[in-house]
Amino acid sequence: MISPALPAELTIALDRALHGLSRNDAAARAASISQTYRDGGGSQAIRSATDALAYAAARMPATYAAVAACLNALNEVRPDFAPQTLLDLGAGPGTASWAAATAFASLRGFELIDANAALSALALELARDTRLAAMRYRRGEALALLAEAPAADLVIASYMINELNDARREKFADLAWRKTNDTLLIVEPGTPAGYQRVLALRRQLIAQGAHVIAPCPHDDECPLAAPDWCHFTQRLPRSRAHQHLKAAELPYEDEKFIYVTLTRAPPPQRPSRVLAQPELTKIAVTAKLCTAHGIVRAGAPRRDKPHYARFRKLSWGDAVFDE
Ligand SMILES: C[S@@+](CC[C@H](N)C(=O)[O-])C[C@H]1O[C@@H](n2cnc3c(N)ncnc32)[C@H](O)[C@@H]1O
Repeated sequence: MISPALPAELTIALDRALHGLSRNDAAARAASISQTYRDGGGSQAIRSATDALAYAAARMPATYAAVAACLNALNEVRPDFAPQTLLDLGAGPGTASWAAATAFASLRGFELIDANAALSALALELARDTRLAAMRYRRGEALALLAEAPAADLVIASYMINELNDARREKFADLAWRKTNDTLLIVEPGTPAGYQRVLALRRQLIAQGAHVIAPCPHDDECPLAAPDWCHFTQRLPRSRAHQHLKAAELPYEDEKFIYVTLTRAPPPQRPSRVLAQPELTKIAVTAKLCTAHGIVRAGAPRRDKPHYARFRKLSWGDAVFDE
Protein backbone atom coordinates (compact mmCIF):
# COMPACT_ATOMS: atom_id res chain seq x y z
CA MET A 1 0.00 0.00 0.00
CA ILE A 2 1.36 3.43 -0.86
CA SER A 3 0.58 6.64 0.98
CA PRO A 4 -1.86 9.18 -0.51
CA ALA A 5 0.68 11.92 0.30
CA LEU A 6 3.10 13.05 -2.42
CA PRO A 7 6.49 11.31 -2.14
CA ALA A 8 9.16 13.46 -0.47
CA GLU A 9 11.21 13.71 -3.70
CA LEU A 10 8.24 15.19 -5.55
CA THR A 11 7.37 17.60 -2.73
CA ILE A 12 10.96 18.86 -2.74
CA ALA A 13 10.95 19.25 -6.53
CA LEU A 14 7.63 21.13 -6.43
CA ASP A 15 8.85 23.42 -3.64
CA ARG A 16 12.04 24.07 -5.63
CA ALA A 17 10.00 24.97 -8.72
CA LEU A 18 7.63 27.18 -6.68
CA HIS A 19 10.49 29.07 -5.06
CA GLY A 20 10.24 32.77 -5.85
CA LEU A 21 6.70 32.53 -7.21
CA SER A 22 4.23 34.84 -5.51
CA ARG A 23 1.77 32.66 -3.52
CA ASN A 24 -1.03 35.12 -4.23
CA ASP A 25 -0.34 35.03 -7.97
CA ALA A 26 -0.22 31.20 -7.89
CA ALA A 27 -3.50 31.09 -5.91
CA ALA A 28 -5.23 33.43 -8.39
CA ARG A 29 -4.03 31.40 -11.39
CA ALA A 30 -5.00 28.08 -9.75
CA ALA A 31 -8.48 29.47 -8.98
CA SER A 32 -8.93 30.69 -12.54
CA ILE A 33 -7.83 27.30 -14.00
CA SER A 34 -10.22 25.46 -11.62
CA GLN A 35 -13.04 27.73 -12.72
CA THR A 36 -12.28 26.88 -16.37
CA TYR A 37 -12.53 23.16 -15.51
CA ARG A 38 -15.79 23.70 -13.61
CA ASP A 39 -17.18 25.56 -16.64
CA GLY A 40 -16.46 22.51 -18.80
CA GLY A 41 -13.18 23.80 -20.29
CA GLY A 42 -9.95 21.83 -20.42
CA SER A 43 -6.23 22.18 -19.90
CA GLN A 44 -5.91 24.78 -22.67
CA ALA A 45 -6.25 27.30 -19.83
CA ILE A 46 -2.72 26.25 -18.77
CA ARG A 47 -0.52 28.29 -21.11
CA SER A 48 2.61 29.41 -19.30
CA ALA A 49 5.20 27.87 -16.99
CA THR A 50 3.59 29.77 -14.10
CA ASP A 51 0.12 28.44 -14.98
CA ALA A 52 1.52 24.91 -15.07
CA LEU A 53 3.17 25.34 -11.71
CA ALA A 54 0.05 26.86 -10.13
CA TYR A 55 -2.05 23.99 -11.52
CA ALA A 56 0.41 21.35 -10.30
CA ALA A 57 0.71 22.89 -6.83
CA ALA A 58 -3.08 23.07 -6.50
CA ARG A 59 -4.17 19.79 -8.09
CA MET A 60 -1.26 17.34 -8.15
CA PRO A 61 -1.63 16.30 -4.48
CA ALA A 62 -5.28 15.32 -5.02
CA THR A 63 -4.93 13.56 -8.38
CA TYR A 64 -1.84 11.77 -7.05
CA ALA A 65 -3.87 10.58 -4.02
CA ALA A 66 -6.67 9.31 -6.27
CA VAL A 67 -4.26 7.38 -8.52
CA ALA A 68 -2.46 6.02 -5.43
CA ALA A 69 -5.80 4.70 -4.10
CA CYS A 70 -6.52 2.99 -7.44
CA LEU A 71 -3.05 1.40 -7.55
CA ASN A 72 -3.51 0.18 -3.97
CA ALA A 73 -6.79 -1.46 -5.02
CA LEU A 74 -5.02 -3.08 -7.98
CA ASN A 75 -2.21 -4.30 -5.75
CA GLU A 76 -4.70 -5.84 -3.32
CA VAL A 77 -6.29 -7.93 -6.04
CA ARG A 78 -3.02 -8.75 -7.85
CA PRO A 79 -0.18 -8.51 -5.31
CA ASP A 80 2.18 -10.25 -7.74
CA PHE A 81 1.73 -7.69 -10.55
CA ALA A 82 5.17 -6.23 -11.35
CA PRO A 83 4.95 -4.06 -14.47
CA GLN A 84 8.21 -3.13 -16.20
CA THR A 85 6.81 -0.42 -18.46
CA LEU A 86 4.33 2.41 -18.02
CA LEU A 87 2.43 4.52 -20.54
CA ASP A 88 0.93 7.64 -18.93
CA LEU A 89 -1.67 9.25 -21.23
CA GLY A 90 -2.63 12.88 -20.70
CA ALA A 91 0.26 12.81 -18.26
CA GLY A 92 0.30 16.54 -17.48
CA PRO A 93 2.95 17.18 -14.81
CA GLY A 94 3.57 13.42 -14.52
CA THR A 95 1.26 12.76 -11.57
CA ALA A 96 0.26 9.19 -12.43
CA SER A 97 3.85 8.28 -13.34
CA TRP A 98 4.98 9.37 -9.87
CA ALA A 99 2.25 7.30 -8.23
CA ALA A 100 3.05 4.25 -10.38
CA ALA A 101 6.79 4.61 -9.71
CA THR A 102 6.03 4.67 -5.98
CA ALA A 103 3.68 1.68 -6.18
CA PHE A 104 5.85 -0.49 -8.43
CA ALA A 105 9.61 -0.75 -7.83
CA SER A 106 9.64 -3.01 -10.91
CA LEU A 107 8.97 -0.12 -13.33
CA ARG A 108 11.93 0.66 -15.60
CA GLY A 109 10.41 2.42 -18.60
CA PHE A 110 8.25 5.55 -18.34
CA GLU A 111 6.55 6.82 -21.50
CA LEU A 112 4.37 9.93 -21.14
CA ILE A 113 2.09 11.62 -23.67
CA ASP A 114 0.45 15.03 -23.41
CA ALA A 115 -0.45 17.91 -25.71
CA ASN A 116 0.31 20.68 -23.21
CA ALA A 117 3.78 22.23 -23.64
CA ALA A 118 3.88 23.98 -20.25
CA LEU A 119 2.83 20.86 -18.32
CA SER A 120 5.25 18.59 -20.18
CA ALA A 121 8.14 20.99 -19.46
CA LEU A 122 7.16 21.02 -15.79
CA ALA A 123 7.00 17.21 -15.68
CA LEU A 124 10.58 17.02 -16.97
CA GLU A 125 11.72 19.63 -14.46
CA LEU A 126 10.08 17.83 -11.52
CA ALA A 127 11.63 14.53 -12.58
CA ARG A 128 15.17 15.91 -12.82
CA ASP A 129 17.68 13.90 -10.73
CA THR A 130 15.04 11.32 -9.75
CA ARG A 131 14.23 7.78 -10.86
CA LEU A 132 11.76 9.32 -13.30
CA ALA A 133 14.47 11.36 -15.07
CA ALA A 134 14.72 8.63 -17.71
CA MET A 135 11.13 9.24 -18.77
CA ARG A 136 10.34 9.72 -22.44
CA TYR A 137 7.82 12.53 -22.84
CA ARG A 138 6.07 12.76 -26.21
CA ARG A 139 4.32 16.05 -26.69
CA GLY A 140 1.27 16.17 -28.92
CA GLU A 141 -2.25 14.88 -29.54
CA ALA A 142 -2.66 11.55 -27.73
CA LEU A 143 -4.80 9.91 -30.42
CA ALA A 144 -2.12 10.58 -33.02
CA LEU A 145 0.87 9.74 -30.82
CA LEU A 146 -0.66 6.56 -29.42
CA ALA A 147 -0.33 4.91 -32.81
CA GLU A 148 3.47 5.12 -32.65
CA ALA A 149 3.91 4.68 -28.87
CA PRO A 150 5.18 1.30 -27.67
CA ALA A 151 2.78 -0.94 -25.76
CA ALA A 152 3.27 -1.01 -21.98
CA ASP A 153 2.50 -3.39 -19.11
CA LEU A 154 0.58 -0.67 -17.29
CA VAL A 155 -1.30 2.10 -19.10
CA ILE A 156 -2.90 4.96 -17.14
CA ALA A 157 -5.14 7.84 -18.21
CA SER A 158 -5.73 9.97 -15.14
CA TYR A 159 -8.22 12.86 -15.20
CA MET A 160 -7.85 12.98 -18.96
CA ILE A 161 -10.78 11.42 -20.83
CA ASN A 162 -13.12 14.21 -19.68
CA GLU A 163 -11.20 16.45 -22.10
CA LEU A 164 -12.24 14.30 -25.10
CA ASN A 165 -15.65 14.33 -26.80
CA ASP A 166 -17.71 11.11 -27.01
CA ALA A 167 -16.45 9.97 -30.43
CA ARG A 168 -12.79 10.67 -29.60
CA ARG A 169 -13.15 9.01 -26.21
CA GLU A 170 -14.26 5.76 -27.83
CA LYS A 171 -11.36 5.85 -30.29
CA PHE A 172 -8.96 6.78 -27.47
CA ALA A 173 -10.14 3.82 -25.34
CA ASP A 174 -9.66 1.48 -28.29
CA LEU A 175 -6.11 2.74 -28.94
CA ALA A 176 -5.16 2.75 -25.25
CA TRP A 177 -6.38 -0.85 -24.88
CA ARG A 178 -4.34 -1.91 -27.92
CA LYS A 179 -1.26 -0.48 -26.22
CA THR A 180 -2.00 -2.36 -22.97
CA ASN A 181 0.09 -5.51 -22.50
CA ASP A 182 -1.53 -6.25 -19.16
CA THR A 183 -3.46 -3.58 -17.24
CA LEU A 184 -5.23 -0.30 -18.07
CA LEU A 185 -6.33 2.18 -15.39
CA ILE A 186 -8.72 5.03 -16.13
CA VAL A 187 -9.33 7.60 -13.37
CA GLU A 188 -11.85 10.44 -13.57
CA PRO A 189 -13.29 13.08 -11.26
CA GLY A 190 -15.93 11.57 -8.95
CA THR A 191 -18.97 13.21 -10.51
CA PRO A 192 -22.08 11.65 -12.09
CA ALA A 193 -20.68 12.62 -15.52
CA GLY A 194 -17.28 11.08 -14.68
CA TYR A 195 -19.07 7.89 -13.61
CA GLN A 196 -20.97 7.77 -16.93
CA ARG A 197 -17.75 8.23 -18.92
CA VAL A 198 -16.01 5.43 -17.03
CA LEU A 199 -19.08 3.19 -17.38
CA ALA A 200 -19.17 3.68 -21.17
CA LEU A 201 -15.46 2.93 -21.51
CA ARG A 202 -15.78 -0.12 -19.21
CA ARG A 203 -18.64 -1.49 -21.34
CA GLN A 204 -16.72 -0.84 -24.57
CA LEU A 205 -13.56 -2.61 -23.43
CA ILE A 206 -15.32 -5.57 -21.77
CA ALA A 207 -16.95 -6.13 -25.19
CA GLN A 208 -13.37 -6.25 -26.56
CA GLY A 209 -12.35 -8.94 -24.05
CA ALA A 210 -11.17 -6.89 -21.05
CA HIS A 211 -11.81 -8.01 -17.46
CA VAL A 212 -12.40 -5.67 -14.52
CA ILE A 213 -9.88 -5.92 -11.66
CA ALA A 214 -11.35 -3.09 -9.56
CA PRO A 215 -13.52 -1.56 -8.30
CA CYS A 216 -16.23 -3.92 -9.65
CA PRO A 217 -16.24 -7.58 -8.57
CA HIS A 218 -17.64 -8.66 -11.99
CA ASP A 219 -17.68 -7.85 -15.70
CA ASP A 220 -21.50 -7.51 -15.81
CA GLU A 221 -23.45 -4.29 -16.27
CA CYS A 222 -23.22 -1.95 -13.28
CA PRO A 223 -26.10 -2.92 -10.94
CA LEU A 224 -26.61 0.65 -9.66
CA ALA A 225 -29.85 2.24 -10.86
CA ALA A 226 -30.12 6.02 -11.41
CA PRO A 227 -30.09 8.32 -9.53
CA ASP A 228 -27.56 6.15 -7.65
CA TRP A 229 -24.01 6.26 -9.01
CA CYS A 230 -20.57 5.04 -8.05
CA HIS A 231 -17.55 7.02 -6.84
CA PHE A 232 -14.93 6.96 -4.12
CA THR A 233 -13.14 9.40 -1.90
CA GLN A 234 -9.55 9.69 -0.74
CA ARG A 235 -8.42 11.87 2.14
CA LEU A 236 -5.01 13.49 1.78
CA PRO A 237 -2.99 15.86 3.94
CA ARG A 238 -2.92 19.55 3.01
CA SER A 239 0.29 21.51 3.62
CA ARG A 240 0.12 25.11 4.86
CA ALA A 241 1.19 26.32 1.41
CA HIS A 242 -1.59 24.27 -0.18
CA GLN A 243 -4.14 25.62 2.32
CA HIS A 244 -3.11 29.12 1.28
CA LEU A 245 -3.24 28.26 -2.43
CA LYS A 246 -6.77 26.88 -2.15
CA ALA A 247 -7.95 29.37 0.47
CA ALA A 248 -8.82 26.32 2.58
CA GLU A 249 -8.97 26.08 6.36
CA LEU A 250 -8.76 22.35 6.97
CA PRO A 251 -5.38 20.56 7.07
CA TYR A 252 -6.75 17.83 4.80
CA GLU A 253 -8.69 17.46 1.58
CA ASP A 254 -11.13 14.78 0.35
CA GLU A 255 -10.71 13.99 -3.34
CA LYS A 256 -13.71 12.35 -5.02
CA PHE A 257 -12.88 10.09 -7.95
CA ILE A 258 -14.13 7.19 -10.04
CA TYR A 259 -11.99 4.60 -11.78
CA VAL A 260 -11.86 1.33 -13.58
CA THR A 261 -8.90 -1.03 -13.81
CA LEU A 262 -9.06 -3.50 -16.69
CA THR A 263 -6.82 -6.44 -17.45
CA ARG A 264 -6.28 -8.92 -20.26
CA ALA A 265 -6.39 -12.05 -18.09
CA PRO A 266 -9.28 -12.66 -15.68
CA PRO A 267 -8.08 -11.69 -12.17
CA PRO A 268 -7.46 -14.54 -9.72
CA GLN A 269 -9.95 -13.15 -7.20
CA ARG A 270 -12.54 -10.39 -7.21
CA PRO A 271 -13.43 -8.92 -3.83
CA SER A 272 -16.67 -7.12 -3.14
CA ARG A 273 -16.35 -3.33 -2.83
CA VAL A 274 -17.64 -0.93 -0.16
CA LEU A 275 -19.63 1.74 -2.04
CA ALA A 276 -20.18 4.33 0.70
CA GLN A 277 -18.99 5.07 4.20
CA PRO A 278 -20.55 2.30 6.38
CA GLU A 279 -23.38 3.44 8.66
CA LEU A 280 -22.82 3.10 12.35
CA THR A 281 -25.70 3.11 14.84
CA LYS A 282 -25.87 2.28 18.52
CA ILE A 283 -26.78 -1.31 17.73
CA ALA A 284 -25.12 -2.22 14.42
CA VAL A 285 -22.85 -1.36 11.52
CA THR A 286 -24.10 -1.66 7.93
CA ALA A 287 -22.14 -1.41 4.69
CA LYS A 288 -23.34 -1.02 1.11
CA LEU A 289 -21.40 -3.57 -0.93
CA CYS A 290 -21.08 -4.20 -4.64
CA THR A 291 -20.79 -7.99 -4.86
CA ALA A 292 -20.57 -10.53 -7.68
CA HIS A 293 -24.35 -10.96 -7.21
CA GLY A 294 -25.34 -7.30 -7.13
CA ILE A 295 -25.72 -4.62 -4.48
CA VAL A 296 -26.01 -5.97 -0.95
CA ARG A 297 -26.42 -4.24 2.40
CA ALA A 298 -24.41 -6.32 4.83
CA GLY A 299 -23.51 -5.73 8.43
CA ALA A 300 -23.31 -6.99 11.95
CA PRO A 301 -24.99 -6.19 15.28
CA ARG A 302 -22.76 -5.01 18.10
CA ARG A 303 -23.45 -8.17 20.07
CA ASP A 304 -21.86 -10.30 17.31
CA LYS A 305 -18.39 -9.16 18.31
CA PRO A 306 -16.17 -10.90 15.68
CA HIS A 307 -18.39 -9.85 12.75
CA TYR A 308 -18.97 -6.39 14.17
CA ALA A 309 -15.22 -5.85 14.53
CA ARG A 310 -14.72 -6.90 10.90
CA PHE A 311 -17.39 -4.52 9.53
CA ARG A 312 -16.36 -1.70 11.86
CA LYS A 313 -12.94 -1.59 10.18
CA LEU A 314 -14.37 -1.08 6.70
CA SER A 315 -14.16 2.23 4.86
CA TRP A 316 -15.61 3.52 1.62
CA GLY A 317 -13.72 1.96 -1.29
CA ASP A 318 -12.33 -1.00 0.64
CA ALA A 319 -12.16 -4.47 -0.85
CA VAL A 320 -14.01 -7.21 1.04
CA PHE A 321 -12.60 -10.67 0.43
CA ASP A 322 -14.65 -13.77 1.20
CA GLU A 323 -13.89 -15.17 4.64
C1 LIG B 1 -6.53 17.45 -15.87
S1 LIG B 1 -5.00 17.15 -16.61
C2 LIG B 1 -4.51 15.67 -15.76
C3 LIG B 1 -3.04 15.51 -15.68
C4 LIG B 1 -2.52 14.26 -14.97
N1 LIG B 1 -2.85 13.06 -15.69
C5 LIG B 1 -3.05 14.19 -13.55
O1 LIG B 1 -3.75 13.23 -13.24
O2 LIG B 1 -2.73 15.05 -12.75
C6 LIG B 1 -5.48 16.52 -18.20
C7 LIG B 1 -4.29 16.38 -19.13
O3 LIG B 1 -4.71 15.70 -20.31
C8 LIG B 1 -4.09 16.32 -21.41
N2 LIG B 1 -4.90 16.05 -22.62
C9 LIG B 1 -6.23 16.20 -22.75
N3 LIG B 1 -6.61 15.82 -23.99
C10 LIG B 1 -5.49 15.42 -24.63
C11 LIG B 1 -5.24 14.92 -25.93
N4 LIG B 1 -6.23 14.74 -26.79
N5 LIG B 1 -3.98 14.61 -26.26
C12 LIG B 1 -2.96 14.79 -25.38
N6 LIG B 1 -3.14 15.26 -24.14
C13 LIG B 1 -4.38 15.57 -23.76
C14 LIG B 1 -4.07 17.79 -21.05
O4 LIG B 1 -3.10 18.51 -21.80
C15 LIG B 1 -3.74 17.72 -19.56
O5 LIG B 1 -2.37 17.77 -19.31
